[in-house]
Amino acid sequence: MKISVHTNPSSMPESFSQGSAAVVIDILRATSTMAMAFSLGAGSIRLFARRTLLMECHRSQPGSVMLGERDGRTIPGFHFGNSPLELTSEAVSGKQILMTTTNGARAVESVSHAPVVLTAAFVNRHVIAEFLAIRQPEQVYLVCSGWKGGYSAEDAAGAGALIHALEKITDHDVSIENDEALAAMALFNTWQSDLHGLLRRCSHGKRLIRLGTDNDLRWCSKLDCIEIVPLQTSPGCFSPVVIS
Ligand code: MLT
Repeated sequence: MKISVHTNPSSMPESFSQGSAAVVIDILRATSTMAMAFSLGAGSIRLFARRTLLMECHRSQPGSVMLGERDGRTIPGFHFGNSPLELTSEAVSGKQILMTTTNGARAVESVSHAPVVLTAAFVNRHVIAEFLAIRQPEQVYLVCSGWKGGYSAEDAAGAGALIHALEKITDHDVSIENDEALAAMALFNTWQSDLHGLLRRCSHGKRLIRLGTDNDLRWCSKLDCIEIVPLQTSPGCFSPVVIS
């Protein structure tokens, strides 16, 4: 299995080969929140880069739950922002979630034509690695959502964490394809015993702390506490998969 890391969606190739998979990572907080929503029983999650399209969809499906943020702040009129800790099973269980976020939703949109698309975070990184080890795609693109076209250390560390787990599960039967992947592994190795410390120091972590959401950082820094794979079933739409 070949693995490359892309520090933001604009560095992705335009087309994907048949045997490839894209894994989108937005540790703070979109892909962590997706894992939480599925762990609370959400039926499906549909991602939108543009909030107007999401609101149109909600009008035609009034039972759906609108979740969204811009620059970390809840979008007025939405049921929830992007905090994983705001969600409850009463609110999301069995529901369709319509979700828009500043970077994560755009990252998903930019790779939604890949043959297999997953989303990953620290909280579900081990089960994502297991899923990839079972499926054995020839090429895995780890797509960091970044921040507005730039680099985010927490997403790169998430990519490094996933490679670390994949190397263990496959007994090092992976081929590291670019220097971004090497750097991501080094970043994870440096911070793996204090991921919360990394999230507190990175620029989006500091932004979220200013917005009063340090508890989100603490939760998003937990490794391997959720066993659900968010798998794209049609462009932008994700369903939960459990590996038995
Ligand atoms: C994003 O997509 O940019 C993030 O998930 C922002 C956030 O922390 O809500």
